[in-house]
Amino acid sequence: MKTLSSLKILVALIGCVACGLVGLAQASPNAVARGGEHPVPRIVERDGRFALLVDGAPYLMLGAQSNNSSDWPGTLDKVWPAIEYLHANTLETPIYWEQFEPEPGRFDYSQIDLILKQARAHHAHLVLLWFGTWKNGSQHYMPEWMKLKPEIYTHVRNKEGELVDSPSPFAQAALEADKRAFTEFMKHLKEVDAERTVLMVQVENETGTWGAERDYSPEAEKLFAGPVPAEVLKAMGKAAGSASWRDAFGAEADVNFHAWAVAKYVEEIAAAGKAVYPLPLYVNAALRDPFKGAPGTYESGGPTDNVLAIWKAEAPAIDVLAPDIYLPDTASYLKVLELYHRADNALFVPETLGSKSAARFMFSALGLQAIGYSPFGLDYTRTLRPQSGEPVSKDAFLDPTAENYELIGPMMRDVARLNFEGKLQATAEVEGEATQTLHFGDWDAVVSYGGGRGGMAKGNAEPLGRALVAQLKENQFLVAGYFCRVDFRPAGTEAQRKAGHIVNGSGQIPSAQIDGKWVHRQFLKVEEGTYENGAFKFGRILNGDQTDWGVGLGAEPVVVRVSVGTY
Ligand code: DGJ
Repeated sequence: MKTLSSLKILVALIGCVACGLVGLAQASPNAVARGGEHPVPRIVERDGRFALLVDGAPYLMLGAQSNNSSDWPGTLDKVWPAIEYLHANTLETPIYWEQFEPEPGRFDYSQIDLILKQARAHHAHLVLLWFGTWKNGSQHYMPEWMKLKPEIYTHVRNKEGELVDSPSPFAQAALEADKRAFTEFMKHLKEVDAERTVLMVQVENETGTWGAERDYSPEAEKLFAGPVPAEVLKAMGKAAGSASWRDAFGAEADVNFHAWAVAKYVEEIAAAGKAVYPLPLYVNAALRDPFKGAPGTYESGGPTDNVLAIWKAEAPAIDVLAPDIYLPDTASYLKVLELYHRADNALFVPETLGSKSAARFMFSALGLQAIGYSPFGLDYTRTLRPQSGEPVSKDAFLDPTAENYELIGPMMRDVARLNFEGKLQATAEVEGEATQTLHFGDWDAVVSYGGGRGGMAKGNAEPLGRALVAQLKENQFLVAGYFCRVDFRPAGTEAQRKAGHIVNGSGQIPSAQIDGKWVHRQFLKVEEGTYENGAFKFGRILNGDQTDWGVGLGAEPVVVRVSVGTY
């Protein structure tokens, strides 16, 4: 991230007096210049689309999550240089219960205060991750004084009655302790963060249990034998009544029961924290295979795609259920995005791969109006382990994300706003699909990969292509991306498309036969520019080889404004 010089901040702030809050956001597009009054960030929905409002305007979190053990005074100097290199606007980093409450009822605010201070100095926002009762299905971040009393802060029991490395959602004492600590954490944040450096809080981390589908302790068994709560039946589309869990859900009964129990526990904590400080809250999910995730093959209890409705019904204080996506194959990745982009759930990817091949999926997420995206483990505490012995630059693991953020960072307010308004579409290359079409009323944007100079698109050797297109005016579009060509074609109708009356944008002038007459696209003007202070700034007109086969986007971060007409 290029931090703003004080002169630039001054200019930005002077600009804001005239342009108000949205102007403040635009004057400081990626870095965060703070001061004055800031409303509490919130997530809003309009016409089925969501936005995270920061300073009253849609904001796109370009995040990076630190490694688990990086939020310590002696480690943060290995975190911030990575955030700067990445052009990230938000650091996601944990708050550890074991550090925050070293003795029962004694709270240590020092790490919260330190991370806030450092984030402000680096003009970055924060998402704080409450590593409380659950961390990856275990209770490893419970303070020592709790770990020493496993009979009070009890674990899940498996079918054989053995204790599992996972906290029981029926451990009332742990619930009360977590609620008290989390509330204290939120209360402190409210007191010290009038600047709203913190945008969201993650409640727990990858809740649920590995190694047992649910708790089989006597207390749990009793509840499992009883009737399914009415709200769960309703959420899962089952008839009202007094069916038992097994009768209602068959083979899915155990995982549904565990999801209900965990969601209920988390809700109590989240609701208590939200009551003191209403920041947006989310819960992250360790995923199941979106195509064949049978019970027993994944961490049960968290908001996996099969139990999202249970979580929504049981945990209304949680604003977003968010997938941690580590699935490398395209079909699974895209399926997960689709499953978490719901009418009742904004899409937010709080953890994902930062690899070269996965970088394009950020655009797939933007295509589903994601409010944020954040690859995991992007700090310099990480050990470099080159796989094949060839030299690897110290920044190689950051580069794919840095490329995305360098392009999108300066325009992120526009991207977030246009997406919220339903004017933006984005896409990523899929193996075996050389062209993709985005529909915008009278125009289609045709994105093609691996073609050019009259040649048919055949896909890139490695599928790295990605593009976003936003409609600015009826005949004007904003285009950005990497490794693809974008062209525009008079849309015609679905029937005309089917009848072959449309000529694609790959190697030919895109045309459509409309009402018996051929209509051809012509570029009126293709302007290449940069985003400065949140606004498009003209650089040059692209023409000739640069546009004869569509607008080419390569390895450089390029933003283009395209005006089209027909002849
Ligand atoms: C998912 C967890 O949520 C993170 O905290 C971290 O443990 C990663 N997995 C590990 O790669």
